[in-house]
Amino acid sequence: MKVIHDSKELQQTALALRAQGKTIALVPTMGNLHAGHASLMDEARPRADVLIVSVFVNPTQFGPNEDYEKYPRTLDADCEVCRAHGADILFAPTPETMYAPTFSTYITESACSQGLCGRSRPTHFRGVCTVVDILFNLAQPNVAVFGQKDAQQVAVLKRMVQDLHIPVEMVVAPIVREEDGLALSSRNQYLTPKERAAAPKIQAALQTLKNSIATGTDATEKLAEIFVNELSADAVFEPEYIEIVDNTTMAPLKKIEPGNTLIAVAVRMTESRTRLIDNILV
Ligand code: PAJ
Repeated sequence: MKVIHDSKELQQTALALRAQGKTIALVPTMGNLHAGHASLMDEARPRADVLIVSVFVNPTQFGPNEDYEKYPRTLDADCEVCRAHGADILFAPTPETMYAPTFSTYITESACSQGLCGRSRPTHFRGVCTVVDILFNLAQPNVAVFGQKDAQQVAVLKRMVQDLHIPVEMVVAPIVREEDGLALSSRNQYLTPKERAAAPKIQAALQTLKNSIATGTDATEKLAEIFVNELSADAVFEPEYIEIVDNTTMAPLKKIEPGNTLIAVAVRMTESRTRLIDNILV
């Protein structure tokens, strides 16, 4: 496995591979890799000749009071995960090689990015779209793999690819969870022991909600109430949003339409102030 730190070097390498007729799969990450990230690599590996994994904590997607500085950076361990899951190239750039000092061009998706996480993180998806487009231009992928864990990110990026006619096939992999149901996330390590013990209730409450949909309820406000009541019983949870939306557009649904319905939540943990997200497809 080759480790590349420089953006121009990655682009030249990728263009040369494509000129030789090789296909490229890209898995973009912010590092601190866990089994969720590894599952994306496993999904990507058989889809192309060359697998590129990027590890870059992208400053433009963090808000001013978010955890950019504190975000865990574990490149040596990440290298091992990438190697073990068949990556050919690990791209680990510095912010300076990604963003020139004069950088002034951003991509703004303005529909799917408005609700849910976009409400409390108004510049987040602009940063995600911008960096993913930069990564596409550098890595020249035929196919890119993303996780359903970040369902809104998937919707926003798919819309960007469609709107800007970007020649990349978008593949979405299912959420990988701990045995107790908590969705794997690099932010789980911020949790206090009490929060960690309670955190699987998020997934359990989503499951309860999904089941009540299956038994015929279709008043979405009522459903959100069930969820909030279930979590608020425990003082470690401060629900930020719970929404029932169309999985493609992220638009709120008044009536449940089985097939393309997503229940998405964000919860603030009250002791560590960690923000966790999770979702379930109906
Ligand atoms: P990061 O949070 O590191 O996640 C990288 C990829 O791993 C994303 O596609 C995410 O959805 C997926 N992922 C994370 N946890 C997962 C889990 N438990 N199961 C399955 N997939 C999981 O998302 C980002 O980084 C960034 O926004 C990025 C796209 C790299 C742009 O900077």
